Amino acid sequence: MTTLEERLKMLRDEGIKSIREQNHSKDLNEVRVNLLGKKGPITEALRGMKDLSAEERPKIGTLANAVRDEIQSAIELRSKELNDALIKQKLEKETIDVTLPSQPQKVGTEHILTQTISDIEEFFISLGYKVDSGFEVEEDYYNFERLNIPQDHPARDMQDTFYLSDKLLMRTQTSAQEGRDLENHDFSKGPLKVISPGVVYRRDDDDATHSHQFHQLEGLVVDKNISMADLKGTLEALCQHVFGKEREIRFRPSYFPFTEPSVEVDVSCFNCGGEGCRICKYTGWIEVLGAGLSHPKVLEMSGIDTNIYSGFAFGLGPERFAMLKYGITDIRDFYTNDVRFLEQFKGAIR
Ligand code: DAH
Repeated sequence: MTTLEERLKMLRDEGIKSIREQNHSKDLNEVRVNLLGKKGPITEALRGMKDLSAEERPKIGTLANAVRDEIQSAIELRSKELNDALIKQKLEKETIDVTLPSQPQKVGTEHILTQTISDIEEFFISLGYKVDSGFEVEEDYYNFERLNIPQDHPARDMQDTFYLSDKLLMRTQTSAQEGRDLENHDFSKGPLKVISPGVVYRRDDDDATHSHQFHQLEGLVVDKNISMADLKGTLEALCQHVFGKEREIRFRPSYFPFTEPSVEVDVSCFNCGGEGCRICKYTGWIEVLGAGLSHPKVLEMSGIDTNIYSGFAFGLGPERFAMLKYGITDIRDFYTNDVRFLEQFKGAIR
C-alpha cells in the first residue's frame, strides 16, 4: 500500500508530465479539469485524510496544497507557452505590404439644407437676433388661434396637418413660435428680435415641389416704431447675403391672417439680373417669402400695447432658397440621402 504522501507525490509527477505533453489549449484545459476538479484524483486522495493521525494530518495538508499549487503553475506555464507559440506562428504566416496604397477615407459633407439654415441663422445672429426653434408638436392654440386664425377660419384648410388630439398637432408653420416668444419676452429689457428655424408638417401629397414635412424659418421683431421700412431693409440685406450683393427686392400685396399689411417678397433674378430668363419665368423677379407687419390682434393677445409697440414678421422656406440658388428641381432630393446628390454641395456655403 502506498502512503497518502507517496500517492500525492505521484499524482504531482504524473500530472506535471501530462501537462507538459499537451499541445492544444483545449486539451490542456481538459487535463486541468481532470486533475483539479471536484472529482479529480487529488480531491479523491484527500478524502483519506480522515484516517490519518493528528500529527500527520497538517503535514499532508500542507503537501496537498503545495501539489495543487505546483500543478496550477505548470498549467499556467504550459498555457502561456502554447499561446506564445500560436502568436509566433500567426506572425510568421502574416505578411503586411506597407507599400500598398491606403484606403481613401470618405469624409462627409454638411447637408445643403443644414448649410443654408446655419448660414441664415448666422446672418440674423450678426444682427442681434436670438434663435428659438420651438416645438414640432404644438398646440392648436399657438399654431392657429394665437395667429388670428380662429376655429373654422378658411386659412386652416390650406394647412391641414397631422392631429395628435383635438388640441395637439404637428405644427404647420414656424409662425406658431410667435405667440410663445411674444408672451415670454420682457420688453423692459429691449426689443424682441428672434428667428425660429425648424421642421413643419402638412397633409400634402408629395411631389417635386411638395413634401408633407419641410423646413421654415420664421422671423419676428417687435419694438417701438417698427415699420415696413425696417422689414424691407432687413429682407433686402438677407436676400443680398443669400443671393448676391446686386439683389433688389420688391413687395407685392398679399394676405396672411397674422400680418397686416401682408406682402409677398420677390428678389431680382440672380441668374439674369432682372432681364428675364427661364429661372424667373421671364419676369426678372423670383418670389422668395411671405412677410408683413404684425397684426395688432396678434400683439394684443400677448398683452402688448399696440399704441406703443409694433412689429414685423416673415417666413421663408430654406428648401425653396436652396432649390432656387442651386437649381435643384426636386424637393425629395433633400430627404433621400443619396450621397451623389449631397456631395455636390460640399463646402457650397460653409
Ligand atoms: N407661416 C406662413 C406660411 O406657412 C409664412 C409666413 C408668411 C410667415 C408671412 C410670416 C409672415 O411670419 O409674416 O405660409
